[in-house]
Amino acid sequence: MTKLSTKHLLGIKNITTEDIHLIFQTADNFKEVINRPIKKVPSLRDITIANIFFENSTRTKLSFELAEKRLSADVVNFSASSSSVKKGETLVDTVNNILAMKVDMVVMRHPNPGACVHLARHIDCSIINAGDGAHEHPTQALLDAYSLREKLGDLTGKKILIVGDILHSRVALSNIFCLQKLGAEVRVCGPATLIPKHIEALGVKVMMNLKEALMWCDVANMLRIQLERQDIQYFPSLREYTLQYGLSSRLLKEIGKDDLIIMHPGPINRGVEITTDIADGKHSIILEQVENGVAVRMAVLYLLAGQTKTA
Ligand code: CP
Repeated sequence: MTKLSTKHLLGIKNITTEDIHLIFQTADNFKEVINRPIKKVPSLRDITIANIFFENSTRTKLSFELAEKRLSADVVNFSASSSSVKKGETLVDTVNNILAMKVDMVVMRHPNPGACVHLARHIDCSIINAGDGAHEHPTQALLDAYSLREKLGDLTGKKILIVGDILHSRVALSNIFCLQKLGAEVRVCGPATLIPKHIEALGVKVMMNLKEALMWCDVANMLRIQLERQDIQYFPSLREYTLQYGLSSRLLKEIGKDDLIIMHPGPINRGVEITTDIADGKHSIILEQVENGVAVRMAVLYLLAGQTKTA
């Protein structure tokens, strides 16, 4: 297969396992490119991409911009805080005005779940979801799975634990879809108030005790508590959350698993979900995830641009 089954990347739920493998094979080539002294290829020389961010971002925004520049695309960046959205313009009007300036693809982050799906119904170019509220963050899941594939090979039967604020996490949902499509078993662990009520319908088992969950898994993906999305208090205090669901070297020593892989999508709250010695220690692949993000996003942009050209 040399083509994706889709014109957009709106989420992992609606792409195929073959799409994921094609993205990974393409990312392997781009990873080799970005480790050369000259990190640039001319693949998207005639393409213009708009990065439209209605929500804060460090990793995703910079990673997309670097990926676009390393593919030789022309890039424009749009930040909602300094735009005419503040004057009441709709999302569709805003993006259609950007497209009128001969933009070919849109990368969008938005606080509302489904914003990219809505946009895809109304505009005529490829859209990549860079995170929509608590819904999906497909390129994060792809780079996470790609990083695990580098460490573990085939993910069939691998045991992946996602810990923390599952309720507000687009990373958790996209990771669940992606890892299950690749044959892994996914479980979640966290306070009952931060676990979605119907998550078991997705084939995901819930574990309440972090130590038992860590004994079970090959990989622990430690999520940030998303205080900015929490409308009520879901646990008594951050201190109590950390005592029950924080990962420390003391807990890791008690478990005694030398080959446990620790992930985190960032940004990290050091000392809350993960201690500094774990974040920077030998089990952590956090910076490898960030490094792989550029190659994976180059692959997604390249493959979707190919769909646009042949459409
Ligand atoms: N992982 C992630 O989405 O980080 P940013 O919010 O910094 O983009």
